Amino acid sequence: MDAILIRGGTVVNADREYRADVLCSDGRIAAVGADLSAPTGALTIDAGGQYVMPGGIDPHTHMQLPFMGTVTQDDFFTGTAAGLAGGTTSIIDFVIPDAGQNLMEAYRTWRGWAEKSAADYGFHVAVTWWDESVHRDMRTLVVEEGVNSFKHFMAYKNAIMADDETLVHSFERALELGAMPTVHAENGELVFLLQERLREAGVFDPSGHPRSRPPVVEGEAAQRAIAIAAVLNVPIYVVHVSCADSAEAIARARARGQRVYGEVLAGHLVIDESVYRNPDFASAAAHVMSPPFRAPEHQVALWHALQAGTLQTTATDHCTFCAEQKALGRADFTRIPNGCGGIEERLAILWDAGVNTGRLTRSEFVAVTSTNAARLFNLYPQKGLVAAGADADLVVWDPAASKVLSVATQHSKGDFNIFEGRRVTGLPSHTLSRGRLVFAAGELRAERAAGRYVKRPAFGPVFEALGRRA
Ligand code: URP
Ligand code: ZN
Ligand code: ZN
Repeated sequence: MDAILIRGGTVVNADREYRADVLCSDGRIAAVGADLSAPTGALTIDAGGQYVMPGGIDPHTHMQLPFMGTVTQDDFFTGTAAGLAGGTTSIIDFVIPDAGQNLMEAYRTWRGWAEKSAADYGFHVAVTWWDESVHRDMRTLVVEEGVNSFKHFMAYKNAIMADDETLVHSFERALELGAMPTVHAENGELVFLLQERLREAGVFDPSGHPRSRPPVVEGEAAQRAIAIAAVLNVPIYVVHVSCADSAEAIARARARGQRVYGEVLAGHLVIDESVYRNPDFASAAAHVMSPPFRAPEHQVALWHALQAGTLQTTATDHCTFCAEQKALGRADFTRIPNGCGGIEERLAILWDAGVNTGRLTRSEFVAVTSTNAARLFNLYPQKGLVAAGADADLVVWDPAASKVLSVATQHSKGDFNIFEGRRVTGLPSHTLSRGRLVFAAGELRAERAAGRYVKRPAFGPVFEALGRRA
C-alpha cells in the first residue's frame, strides 16, 4: 500500500489542535509534524484550510439486523461504506441472540455477516436471557474474542427484553470480567401496557408510537439500571439517551460519584416528535424508532448534557428499513419495524448543529464523535487519536463545503433520510481507513471485506478500583 501524505492541514484531537502534516503508511500514522516530506510514490492530499481529525467511531449501529420480522436494508458492507462517505471509519455493532439462543452461536453468526465490512468493526453482545451457559460464554467473549461490553434491552417485551434478574446477573458478571454493561433504557412492561391501551382506544397510526413510549418510561428504566449498577458497583453506559428524564438520572448519578456514561443520537439532537403527526403514513413510519423523537425541550436538554459532559458519545443507531418493511405496521403502529438511518450524516450534523452554532469546540466535536467512544470501549489510542502509531483512520474535514442532505444523494441503501432537506456546512473531503483512501472529493471507493474485526480488551484500573474480583 502506497504511503499518503496529508499536507497543510490543522490536526484536531480531543485535547488540542495544531498545524501539522500527517504521513500514513502501512495502515498506520507514521508521523505527525511540520513540513513532512512525501516518500517516493506517496499520494499527497492538500488539506490547506481543512481539519485532519480521527475518523468517526459510531458505537451504536445495526447492520443486517433481523428485527421485528424483517432484516435491515443496509448490510455490513453497504452500511460501513455509507459511514466512510460521511467520515466514520469504525462501528461497534450488536450481536443480539434470541431469548434462549446460545451466545457463542449468535456471536459467530454475526462475525460471519460482518466479514463483508468496508470499515473496521467490533461488537457489543446482548444478554437477552440468563443461565449458566450465558455466565460461561460471557467469559469466553471477553477473554478470547475481545468483547468488552454487553447490551441489555429493557424494552421489547416478549422478544429480547432482559428482566431485572437478567440485568443483575449480567451486570455482576460484567464487573467480574472487566466489561461494560450497557442498556437500552425503556420500561418494556409500561410500553406494552400503553400500546394495549392505545389500541383499545382505537389508535393504530404512527402517532401511537411516541404516546406509548413517553419520556418518563425511559427515565424510569435509566434510573433503575443506574440503581442496579450502583448497588453492584459496576460502571454503566446508557445508549440512545433521548430525553431530559434519563439525562438527568445520569447527571444525578455522576454527581454522586457513580461511573455512568451516556450516548446521544444525532437524530435525537435535531429532530422532534412532530414527525409522527405527519398524516403521510410512510413519512411518519420512517421515523419510528425507539426511543422516539421527543418534544423540542428535550433536544435542548440533550445538547446541554453533551456540552456538560453528562453524555460523552454520539451515535446513530443506524438501522434502516424501507417503506415496504415499515408498511408491516400500516394497520398497527406496534408492528412498524423500529429503526432509522444516519451513519453517513452523523458527523455533518454534529459539526453543523454543534460546531457551527458554537455549542461545541472542534476538539469537543472530536471527543464526542470519536475519542470518547474509543476510550470508553477500549479502542484508544489505536483509534480516536491522530498520532504516530495510531491506525490511519482519518477524516479530512472541509469546514466550507456545504450540501443539502437527501435520500437522493445518500450512499446508505435505505429509501428514506431522516435529515432530508437539511443544509449542512462542514463535510469530509477525504476519508482514510487504515491508510487506504476510501472517499475523495465525493467519490466513494469503499472495498468489500477490507474492514477488520477489532478486539477490545477488558478494562483494568477502573474495574479494579470498583472491586473487580477476577
Ligand atoms: O428503534 C431502534 N432503536 N431500533 C434498533 C434497536 C434498538 O432499540 O436499538
Ligand atoms: Zn435500543
Ligand atoms: Zn440500537
